[in-house]
Amino acid sequence: FSIPYPTNEPVLSYAPGSPEKAAIKAAIAELRSQEVDVPMYIGNELVRTDVKKKLSPPHDHQHVLGHFNYGDRSHAEKAVQAALDAKANWENLAWEHRAAIFLKAADLIAGPYRAKINAATMLGQSKNAYQAEIDAACEFIDFLRFNVHYMGEIYNQQPIVPGSPNTWNRTEQRPLEGFIFAITPFNFTAIAGNLPAAPAMMGNTVVWKPSETQIYAANVIMEVFREAGLPDGVINLIYVDGPEAGDVVFNHADFAGLHFTGSTGVFQHLWKTIGENIAKYKAYPRIVGETGGKDFVVAHKSANAQEVATGLVRGAFEFQGQKCSAASRAYIPANIWEDVKKYMQADLAEIKMGGTEDFTNFINAVIDEKAFDKIAGYIDQAKQDAGVELIAGGNHDKSTGYFIEPTVLRADDPKYRTMCEEIFGPVLTIHVYDPEKFEETLKLVDETSPYALTGAIFSKDRYAAELATKRLHQAAGNFYINDKPTGAVVGQQPFGGGRASGTNDKAGAMVNLLRWVSPRTVKENL
Ligand code: SER
Repeated sequence: FSIPYPTNEPVLSYAPGSPEKAAIKAAIAELRSQEVDVPMYIGNELVRTDVKKKLSPPHDHQHVLGHFNYGDRSHAEKAVQAALDAKANWENLAWEHRAAIFLKAADLIAGPYRAKINAATMLGQSKNAYQAEIDAACEFIDFLRFNVHYMGEIYNQQPIVPGSPNTWNRTEQRPLEGFIFAITPFNFTAIAGNLPAAPAMMGNTVVWKPSETQIYAANVIMEVFREAGLPDGVINLIYVDGPEAGDVVFNHADFAGLHFTGSTGVFQHLWKTIGENIAKYKAYPRIVGETGGKDFVVAHKSANAQEVATGLVRGAFEFQGQKCSAASRAYIPANIWEDVKKYMQADLAEIKMGGTEDFTNFINAVIDEKAFDKIAGYIDQAKQDAGVELIAGGNHDKSTGYFIEPTVLRADDPKYRTMCEEIFGPVLTIHVYDPEKFEETLKLVDETSPYALTGAIFSKDRYAAELATKRLHQAAGNFYINDKPTGAVVGQQPFGGGRASGTNDKAGAMVNLLRWVSPRTVKENL
């Protein structure tokens, strides 16, 4: 029995008059007219508390979409216990039955839940319809279907090693012993769903803590999992203060693994905490994380200026630059710079910014006030700094929503702060270099890459493209030739980075699922 290689879920266009556009408009109207009361999901209970926190669209922060029920230490403790209680039944369920649940979840998202999960992502995270579709629908569906396929490959792979006569040796895949802690980010609904789902597929049970700015869509993910038949307690969704939840989880003898996407600082802190507590655990926990990035685009003097400009505008500004893969620094040779600048300015002049309900808005709001203030701070400082030129954008306004214009800066100093520090917003900084100094520029890019998530080279010269691919081989886990560095497709470009960007256990790939099992080798004397 094997599961056929899946095909990627087709991306719907949301063209005027299309049924998907009508469906999503209706879903948005319905969600906007309600006030949801989002529970925590612990074991078989939908938990509500006295502490209600407001849910609002980042592009319309006075509108109330509902509330979520905020928990405390006791909820983290209950969630851990619920995960442990559910473990025996879940891990003993034949993997084909676990697979069926997640395949069903994928079908629910592809069909009846597509409009709702996209609309929740559009309202809760301020993604436009296209960005929601490639994330909450297509990428999430792909994660589920491809992971089920890889899971089949893993369980069907029963390596039988020839040994001495009259013996046979086999290796079986066991789930980890204990529970998994999934911590998920605001920026991708697909990632939020995948981080608890991947370990669960492999027979583990999970405590899931999402970013507070992603809870609106997380609730829909949980609805889908439950409707697909996921048994109670397999994934327990809690909204508890990070340090409080961490104190419960990381001091527990049964803590078996961390599946994390978020900031480098938090990941390093958690790793340290796990290290300090290492003697408390029954087994060495698996630590899997995708963290920060400062993703680059390098153009060679042979590059096509229009292609570079389009790659930069899309790579830097789709979803307001809040993809971990977003281009945030670029190195452009002087011979094509004026053209790249002209094309970028022309593109950006046409771009509209506003709420996600108006489908013509390419740029929406950044996630919250904290992010807004940080990003705006970088822009305002850059406007005053010598050696920095404002090429486009630069304005921001948080009166109704957290809006920041797509902003392009040019910095004389390739080590200027916005060339090096992660901003996580719609800010792109460009350094213009001497076209004869390509090799030196590659060296500079590598040396200024403490992160290594994504990167791109634009070049019509094959030798230059190859040189960049070689010289930058540790500077990005996902490297693109003549394309923007965002938009990895499950099954085609497994996603993840090295250095300070994470453990590079590619999302939606077999290598990731293998982190959630522990093989046992059995030798039998016949
Ligand atoms: N997978 C996304 C991309 O490649 C980022 O998380 O853009």
